Amino acid sequence: TQLDLIRNFSIVAHIDHGKSTLADRLIQLTGTVADRDMKAQMLDSMDIERERGITIKANTVRLEYPAKDGNTYILNLIDTPGHVDFAYEVSRSMRAVEGSLLVVDASQGVEAQTLANVYQALDAGHEIVPVLNKIDLPAAEPDRIRQQIEDVIGLDASDAVLISAKSGLGIPDVLEAIVKRLPAPKGDRNAPLKAMLVDSWYDAYLGVVVMIRVMDGVMRKGDRVRMMQTNAVYGIDRLSVLKPQMVDIDELGPGEIGVLTASIKQVRDTRVGDTITHERKGCEVALPGFKPAQPVVFCGLFPVDANEFEPLRDAIEKLALNDASFTYEMETSAALGFGFRCGFLGLLHLEVVRDRLEREYDIDLITTAPSVVYHIYMKDGTMQELHNPADMPDLTYVDHIEEPRIKATIMVPDEYLGDILKLCQDRRGIQADLSYAGQRAMVVYDLPLNEVVFDFYDRLKSVTKGYASFDYNITGYREDFLVKMSVLVNDEPVDALSMMVHRDRADMRGRAMVEKLKELIPRHMFKIPIQAAIGGRVIARETLSAMRKDVTAKCYGGDATRKKKLLEKQKAGKKKMRQFGKVEIPQQAFINALKMD
Ligand code: GTP
Repeated sequence: TQLDLIRNFSIVAHIDHGKSTLADRLIQLTGTVADRDMKAQMLDSMDIERERGITIKANTVRLEYPAKDGNTYILNLIDTPGHVDFAYEVSRSMRAVEGSLLVVDASQGVEAQTLANVYQALDAGHEIVPVLNKIDLPAAEPDRIRQQIEDVIGLDASDAVLISAKSGLGIPDVLEAIVKRLPAPKGDRNAPLKAMLVDSWYDAYLGVVVMIRVMDGVMRKGDRVRMMQTNAVYGIDRLSVLKPQMVDIDELGPGEIGVLTASIKQVRDTRVGDTITHERKGCEVALPGFKPAQPVVFCGLFPVDANEFEPLRDAIEKLALNDASFTYEMETSAALGFGFRCGFLGLLHLEVVRDRLEREYDIDLITTAPSVVYHIYMKDGTMQELHNPADMPDLTYVDHIEEPRIKATIMVPDEYLGDILKLCQDRRGIQADLSYAGQRAMVVYDLPLNEVVFDFYDRLKSVTKGYASFDYNITGYREDFLVKMSVLVNDEPVDALSMMVHRDRADMRGRAMVEKLKELIPRHMFKIPIQAAIGGRVIARETLSAMRKDVTAKCYGGDATRKKKLLEKQKAGKKKMRQFGKVEIPQQAFINALKMD
């Protein structure tokens, strides 16, 4: 394809502003997918995405668009996730395209992730076309939002495209704007092959699938190619474009985006950001690589059933291929046995991975307390990173502890400002800035990340009835008075529940934790003390009283099948429990005990 007939773009938006709906309309209007095959949210292929209505993995689709100028253009759309945890995927896919549609909900206006995403697009050198969506809503105020885009982002929005992705209004104008206002890719067909590895994932039927953007040269089916970082060489078995299902193609030229399979066995060989070239007569200089993702939240994942360790390892390896930002290593816990210590970009990312393991691979998991990465400065002058509170060194050797801090930007309607300030203050925040854009306040806080990873986002949403938006980035490390709090159930320490907390907040957290656990742990035949402790000192204590009756007692005299059913039900319920000494703790208790009210 001629370069000037290609447009590569992504859609950036705050969550729920209608990015996926717009993508669906573009797919539909260009006839890429026949109407009868159209499903809502075409690009969100995973069940879990559809259920939660969020886009997790960046996906891509190739559209053919006969424009008003008489030419048929190839439009490659890369869909990007909108949530703060997935900013890394956004920055990655941005590098493979030249322009962005900036979708802003015309009734809501600019939100925290609108800002974060648009800055990434600007960093990647994109041309940006503002699109005001949901103009069908009575509350839509396109003129005001246009002005807001200019004031807050500094982007000329005078010729923003007004659309309703839901009704289809204005979609043809979006297609024309893509062709007219976004730049064509550049590249040299005669130069040695230089392609960017944009993404890779594991497919049950095809094995490892690699998404590429060709910069220079031509890639053909059957070519032998080399990954420049790992030096691995492969023969290309299959070259395809995504429409959005795979359609085979013989070659991909400069500016084109597609996928290849090459009997790649080693998942490690497909490093996102790597440069792919020909084995012979390849290019000399690789593309600048992507910054590797830095996980900021760690937690342990253990199978409820110890026999499921091998299936879990398998599933985690596969998932990790689909998600370059997720890290894992083996871990053993005194109470939980073998499992994995995993690193995530944030708490939502953690929940998504856990859900996928449970649903797609059918493994019941125990998630241990999420922890950020602490810097432990030892008296001998060395520093070690702490990913797991269980590894906390003996305090007599520790000089001081530093924790990560973030700069959080929160946008919120005026009437909720007070609640937000209180929430941030309660979480040891320091206010850095407060300004207004119309009826909305923009608050900037310096916060410890450890106060944010548990449930900050949930709290933020609930105190503002969902009207606040939030974005953050890590600014650095600072010393504070941090201690390790352990939890003892029936006098046995449960290492999976130990966590690092600020000393001033420890009593409160300890109390909340033991109260929660008292509700979450079912009664046993004996009394169970539940305690929170720092070092040897107990800071909170509750006692779970003993159960009085056998569950089957109430069926006394009833028929045997009913009794059997009840026992079976009990047994099934037990599968989701874990034995600690003499006590069984339900799987759900591990994550729920950590939520603060
Ligand atoms: P993420 O994928 O989670 O980032 O969200 P998104 O930006 O893709 O939003 P999505 O397309 O899922 O739309 C969010 C909600 O807004 C859905 O309930 C849509 O039906 C609705 N919506 C999208 N476009 C319009 C529109 O033009 N008008 C109205 N009234 N609703 C719309």
